[in-house]
Amino acid sequence: MAPVTAPDISGNADSQPRRSALVTGASRGIGYEIARRLAGQGCELTISARRRDGLLEAVDKLRSEFGVNVHPVVANLANDADVAEVVNAHEGRYGALDLLVLNAGVGAAGTVAELSVKHYDLVLNVNLRSQFLLVQKALPMLRKAAATRPSSGARVVALASITGVAAEAGLSAYGASKAALISLCETLSLEEAANGVSATAISPGFVATDMTAQMDKTVDVDSMLRASDVAELVVALSHLSAKAVVPNIVISRAGPAIWRA
Ligand SMILES: NC(=O)c1ccc[n+]([C@@H]2O[C@H](COP(=O)([O-])OP(=O)(O)OC[C@H]3O[C@@H](n4cnc5c(N)ncnc54)[C@H](OP(=O)(O)O)[C@@H]3O)[C@@H](O)[C@H]2O)c1
Repeated sequence: MAPVTAPDISGNADSQPRRSALVTGASRGIGYEIARRLAGQGCELTISARRRDGLLEAVDKLRSEFGVNVHPVVANLANDADVAEVVNAHEGRYGALDLLVLNAGVGAAGTVAELSVKHYDLVLNVNLRSQFLLVQKALPMLRKAAATRPSSGARVVALASITGVAAEAGLSAYGASKAALISLCETLSLEEAANGVSATAISPGFVATDMTAQMDKTVDVDSMLRASDVAELVVALSHLSAKAVVPNIVISRAGPAIWRA
């Protein structure tokens, strides 16, 4: 029997251009781990974050570990102009886009009764509005990549949250933004699957990153998911054929409830 090997997603095997991915919020945490796994698969990358130092450090590590092209774009996704710049920079460098990873996001605790409108706007701008704009601006490049490789198509993967599936008290705007992001992924697949483009939301419980570092008094860090758990799923999605549409993947923490944040 022939050995089973992971498909080569780099694009080298069929002498086509290498595949490329754009990962937002990839200077650290889940986004960095996703970028790392994709670089390990030979993908060329554009990565973005607000802080230049952290971003350039991530670029250096990825280049030296994997020898792939990694293009950094400093951008605050709360600004529409920066959102456009991220997509334009990827297009200028690579021309097409096989995988768009909508990872950058902000957490903000606050009940419906108490959350300020200022914080509500920030969370919705970064976690939803910017994702909508990124997808809208990147769609021509995603369609182009899907037309080049019709068997694999092109994908959008969005980091939602288990809070977008089962609401949690005290995360009013965050949960709403993630629930809407899951819906956005479903709509995109319905509208674009015929063009070879589909979208998947990934909805994890607590993952051990900077975002959850301040929760160590309420949630045992050791019980949290690993960024690598999420990154593995992104790589798996990138191996699927265009026939497979995956709306949402929920990752629960091990424990007494099946959807455990
Ligand atoms: N950690 C969890 O428990 C968990 C659970 C479920 C879902 N998620 C989701 O997973 C995603 C990644 O979370 P994480 O835990 O890896 O977060 P993290 O450790 O806080 O990292 C966030 C990344 O996004 C960038 N970023 C933050 N705000 C930005 C903005 N306004 N514009 C551009 N880039 C920005 C950060 O870099 P700069 O600070 O330099 O901008 C960093 O690279 C988020 O969407 C989050 O909601 C996380």
